[in-house]
Amino acid sequence: MPPLLSVERLTKYFAGLAALKDVSFEVEEGQICGLIGPNGAGKTTLFSIIAGSVSPSSGTITYSGKDVTRWKSFQAVRAGVARTHQITRPFRSMTTRQNVEIGLHFGRGPASGSTWGEVAEILEGVGLGRVADRPAASLCVGDQKRLELARTLAAKPKLLLCDEVCSGLTETEMNEVLDLLRRIRGRGTTILYVEHNMRAIMSTCDQVVVLNFGEKLTEGPPLKIQNDPAVIEAYLGKTAAD
Ligand SMILES: Nc1ncnc2c1ncn2[C@@H]1O[C@H](COP(=O)(O)OP(=O)(O)OP(=O)(O)O)[C@@H](O)[C@H]1O
Ligand SMILES: [Mg+2]
Repeated sequence: MPPLLSVERLTKYFAGLAALKDVSFEVEEGQICGLIGPNGAGKTTLFSIIAGSVSPSSGTITYSGKDVTRWKSFQAVRAGVARTHQITRPFRSMTTRQNVEIGLHFGRGPASGSTWGEVAEILEGVGLGRVADRPAASLCVGDQKRLELARTLAAKPKLLLCDEVCSGLTETEMNEVLDLLRRIRGRGTTILYVEHNMRAIMSTCDQVVVLNFGEKLTEGPPLKIQNDPAVIEAYLGKTAAD
């Protein structure tokens, strides 16, 4: 089967700075693919290009067999590509439920019938049923991350781009969110997952792509990546690798 997503020689310059340089990799359907790398490695930029909010300088992106290199956000959403944001940004004065309703409307165009049941199901699925009618601004960090996921799930993604959904969470909250990601994959959604927490990456990903200064450093199964001296060096500096 051809990969769901294929990134080829992707390059993005911001003024003189190469945020991404000749990055190539593929994501198989049904996988959780981790995307890791130190701060400024280009991970969020890569997400923005795949999600259609930033245009690359060169290279190609193929999704579901189609060239989508320069598509727009609305086209990406319509085609089943949804992203969470590193900095969560719900509509703060609206309730949790209303925020998910909006995700539902934007995901598939105007809703035809009642969305109540569908929204309730998504909220229960991510564990937000208990705060459904609270203003989003009042949610704790863990619940804000869950809401960010719930909003994207409302768009019924085929490909979910998750940007640091575990940062700022306690160990227990993190395990719950990771379980949620595995369940989302279990229902057939492919996930590209940016995360700094190595334990989160190692315990959920089928494969991992490592970026460093905008270039692909290496890729492979989690265990191989975890023990790769070049990866350890990129994260911790040369001495640590020695
Ligand atoms: N809109 C922009 N304009 C100019 N430079 C940008 C822009 N967006 C990102 N950059 C630069 O591109 C590089 C990659 O940034 P990016 O946010 O993609 O990194 P990241 O891997 O997501 O980092 P982090 O782990 O800190 O989130 C950085 O040097 C950043 O300063
Ligand atoms: Mg980032």
